Amino acid sequence: MSIEAKRYERVKKEAYEVLERNRRTTDGHQYTLPSPSTYPYQWFWDSCFHAIVLSTDYPEAAKGELRSMVSSQFENGMLPHMIYWESAEFVHIEWGTGKTSSITQPPMIAEALMSVYQKDGDTGFLRELYQPLCAFYEYLLTARDPRGNHLSGIVNPDESGEDNSPRFDSLLGLPPIHELQENFTSRLKLVEALRHGHFDAPFMKQYFWVKDVPFNAILVKNLQVLSTIAERLEMLDDSERYASEALLVGKAMRERMYDGELFWPTYGESYLKMKVKTWAIFAPMYARILSAKEARHLVDAHLLDEKQFRARYMVPTVSMDEPSFDPDGFWRGPTWIGANWFIFHGLMNYGFREEAEHIARSSLELLELSGFREYFNPTTGEGLGAKDFTWGALALDMCETLRDK
Ligand code: GLC
Repeated sequence: MSIEAKRYERVKKEAYEVLERNRRTTDGHQYTLPSPSTYPYQWFWDSCFHAIVLSTDYPEAAKGELRSMVSSQFENGMLPHMIYWESAEFVHIEWGTGKTSSITQPPMIAEALMSVYQKDGDTGFLRELYQPLCAFYEYLLTARDPRGNHLSGIVNPDESGEDNSPRFDSLLGLPPIHELQENFTSRLKLVEALRHGHFDAPFMKQYFWVKDVPFNAILVKNLQVLSTIAERLEMLDDSERYASEALLVGKAMRERMYDGELFWPTYGESYLKMKVKTWAIFAPMYARILSAKEARHLVDAHLLDEKQFRARYMVPTVSMDEPSFDPDGFWRGPTWIGANWFIFHGLMNYGFREEAEHIARSSLELLELSGFREYFNPTTGEGLGAKDFTWGALALDMCETLRDK
């Protein structure tokens, strides 16, 4: 690893301190708050990120994080994106479900489980979580794909994990520049519609039904991982089935989302493409669904272009030449270490080590400059949003990956 050991150790110490400070236990369920002052509950993909980082030195804490997540699984298999273990001061959203939200988030849990297994080889834990995980992915492959087209739909921008991303503006009827509150209000209307539709995902087609790029790329990768998990558990039919589902989703992404240059989210029965350039264009590398030539082009023509994504602190979540780009605007431009993590692994998948290392380095620099903040201005590196935010810890996984390969 060419990132100096001293820098890495300093950030590691801080990351573990944040993760430990934010850890809570309620009724025997252990989980980690993304940020105690801003996000005082458990969140789904955050918990997966926590488990990935904790698995290296604290596998038991990593397991606790995933166990508490599946303890709130819905009967139909859905894993909610928020669990309200304790009541806290927070914007009150009427989800109609009591203790949890009624929408999900990017399906990272198979990878998180695999990460724990790779560190301690505990087959018992694989077995314990296997059925809940299968139920969740089956839900995404059926209820979220009622017409059997091999793409999973999301019913609210929040399910992408990128609440106010400009990818969804056109469908929400919002112009490229608008207030955060306006965006929030339109997402709340979708929750209301979902409540009236009794949380029936296909019912949402008339309001918001998007086949998003990162969500489906993450699904492809996680179905591959689920297939490996099934193999370890000697469930060979399952293993084959999940591997073939991963292929089908990857193929459908190419058929419906690709325009010969970039992958775009789509909506509606005719798969209309929503062409706003965000970091999502790099997500297909994470799922390895590009050819080596396509990946090279994506990196050269977009990631490394100073007008688009090559900022001082990489990677801005929205291309700097988009009218909606706002360097301080939550998911409308700032650099997020979570998005960096996906881009980093995508680059590593295609052997772009130098570019991957640049992103790991940028992530470390941001943490050193501004601390464990939620997101960062890509030009100045200023830390923004929540404090004591856990996602910075993903920089450790990037450094460890570089060291191992
Ligand atoms: C914000 C992010 C979302 C995250 C949550 C908790 O809503 O957009 O991705 O899960 O905070 O950290």
